[in-house]
Amino acid sequence: MTTPTIELKPSAHPLPAAEREKILASPGFGRHFTDHMVTIRWTEGRGWHDAQLVPYAPLSIDPANMTLHYAQTIFEGLKAYRRPDGSVATFRPEANAQRFQRSARRLGMPELPVETFLAACDALVEQDKGWVPAHGGEESLYLRPFMFAAEVGLGVKPANEYLFLVIASPAGAYFPGGVKPVSIWLSEDRVRAVPGGMGDAKTGGNYAASLLAQAEAAEKGCDQVAYLDAVEHKWVEELGGMNLYFVYGNGGKDGRPKIVTPTLTGSLLAGVTRDSLLTVARDLGYEAEEARVSIDQWQADTENGTLTEVFACGTAAVITPVGTVKRAGAEWQQSGGEPGEVTMKLRETLLNIQRGTSEDTHGWMHPL
Ligand code: COI
Repeated sequence: MTTPTIELKPSAHPLPAAEREKILASPGFGRHFTDHMVTIRWTEGRGWHDAQLVPYAPLSIDPANMTLHYAQTIFEGLKAYRRPDGSVATFRPEANAQRFQRSARRLGMPELPVETFLAACDALVEQDKGWVPAHGGEESLYLRPFMFAAEVGLGVKPANEYLFLVIASPAGAYFPGGVKPVSIWLSEDRVRAVPGGMGDAKTGGNYAASLLAQAEAAEKGCDQVAYLDAVEHKWVEELGGMNLYFVYGNGGKDGRPKIVTPTLTGSLLAGVTRDSLLTVARDLGYEAEEARVSIDQWQADTENGTLTEVFACGTAAVITPVGTVKRAGAEWQQSGGEPGEVTMKLRETLLNIQRGTSEDTHGWMHPL
């Protein structure tokens, strides 16, 4: 399968630089979008075609578009960072491209070749480079590749046409408080994804499934919901939109820190940040492992003092400490409600690689 050449049709009216700079000074998360987007169409019998970089604009959707009815849609999230010399690089885009293919397979959609995914992200970042925030702060340019069924009709079947897009949004902290610890509501009855269902696919439906429990978390005064497995309602899976890590401050060999993240069971997202942290932690001399963690163990290990920190991680969330945790009949604090030392060390180490201030020893950065 050959990668279609992306035809460049740039905007004649990009946002004036002064207005763009105003947005970049305080971008928030997912509120502003750059001047362009990439679109590539797939049609049965023809494959990928009509690859274009065009001005960012609304799409015209037929009311009978099959995605609106049957939710055949997948997405990714990755970031581009400004480096000290002013150049720009994205973080592990191949990992996102490969996960996008896995999600496509699960949803019965065509697989976008990895090189086409990379070319589309590169073309957009190259064109909208001025939207990548300055080096040194928390900000970056968040890329959102996604694909949905473009066939019009009401029959339930895999569509015969799809549209792949990449849009970009300058991003500050996902949570308004930045690295201030977030509070978690442990949902013990509602589940997010089920093994054998859409499982670990990064599809809108899995996020839609999380929204009611997220609203319940907000009613309990919490920022995020944590899910348990769908079968035994016992094993910790992930938050509504990010993975979890548990820090045992002296849990490793010779009293070194040990970090533990829930094993990939097929129903929790194989996060790129989650995966990277297993390596970053080992680089720092910590132990890092994937294991099943039960909700009762989470509470008991906090109470007996061995579980010293908990944090959330994801492309959007980076690494965000967890403070208050609530479940029916109990409430506790992780690391006294303050960001933990191991959490902040991992955060700084990963961000330094991403921002280009530490050596990229694992070949994770993809320079433009
Ligand atoms: C990401 O971290 O990129 C995600 O896809 C999570 C989303 C809820 C913002």
